[in-house]
Amino acid sequence: RIIDWELEEAEKSGYENYMLKEIHEQPKSLRDAIAGRLNELTGEVVMPELTLTKADIDDIKRIVIVACGTSYHAGLIGKYAIESMTDIPVSVEIGSEFRYSANRLGHETLVIALSQSGETADTIAAVKGSIKKGARVLAITNVVGSTVSREANYSIYMRCGPEIGVAATKTFTSQIVIMYMVALYLGTMKGMLGAEQNIRMVAELKALPNKVQRLLENERYIMGLASLFRNAGQFFFVGRNLNYPIALEGALKLKEISYIISEGYAAGELKHGPLALITTNIPVIAIATQCATYHKMVSNIKEIKARDASVIAIASESDGLIDQLVDFVVRIPDSNEYIAPILSTIVLQLFAYYIAVFRGCPVDKPRNLAKSVTVE
Ligand code: G6P
Repeated sequence: RIIDWELEEAEKSGYENYMLKEIHEQPKSLRDAIAGRLNELTGEVVMPELTLTKADIDDIKRIVIVACGTSYHAGLIGKYAIESMTDIPVSVEIGSEFRYSANRLGHETLVIALSQSGETADTIAAVKGSIKKGARVLAITNVVGSTVSREANYSIYMRCGPEIGVAATKTFTSQIVIMYMVALYLGTMKGMLGAEQNIRMVAELKALPNKVQRLLENERYIMGLASLFRNAGQFFFVGRNLNYPIALEGALKLKEISYIISEGYAAGELKHGPLALITTNIPVIAIATQCATYHKMVSNIKEIKARDASVIAIASESDGLIDQLVDFVVRIPDSNEYIAPILSTIVLQLFAYYIAVFRGCPVDKPRNLAKSVTVE
């Protein structure tokens, strides 16, 4: 396997552990993910590695995103983006399920395999199976020359540098940004996006690294919240729309490194079961940034508060309503509905990180978990 990383990049450079270093590297990893790939003037995505022609793209009738773990959550975000920017239906599948499913794939299907390592056994099997059935496969990985990228027809690299902490952080945010660029690319090629829309989205993507930098200045406040809630036995994470996968990812981060039972839910689904669990003892993290479903989210928060749970909201800087509704608010820089989830996820990474540290957990190497699951 070809490794293109320098040794010093894989060292902790003064940080307590790799996870904290990798969280802090996100302004750079995001800058690298978009470098040279976005034209600010035309709003176009420049990705020579994506050698799909207009005719190839017009042939695609269906997209299936396949991934495991955190990458699966990036896939869910990808679905929202691709379906909003193109007319192609998208499904997102867990590698271990997809490889054994009776799916009918053919040349009209584009499979997007998302894998940080490119070595996850179930994702590799899903890719090989898809190619055998005649589908085309686009790999999005962080490791040059990884198995997934070698097996695929097209390959995009995340350019994050090595991620050593078992819990994925910087690679998740880059996966999201790359999914957005793929969505923009497909939408533009299909003539479905106006130049103005493209230019606005490209400007938002370009502004992201500096917003992440600004967000990281809030770290002490997030640490304080983590200290306050460190002894909670369970947590709920809720969100809607693009914030739903972020709720899943926030819950996963907390499970992985702090061993706290945590559930991520689509906020609109609470009344179909989980509301029975909401009491004063369960803190709820509500991702309530500005988006089309913001007011629906506010109603969900009211339902939760009516059961006396403590609510921590993640909200936009300019939100003047949220303070009256919840117990604590973490503010993120104002952004459009695609960018806000990336900022919210970084809040949740820090939150999980500090809870784990306060509980004395080995954040870089959680028990029973591996960075890359290369066996079935
Ligand atoms: C393991 C890691 C997770 C990762 C998942 C998928 O479970 O602990 O952090 O999200 O594998 O890995 P991949 O390399 O395919 O993205």
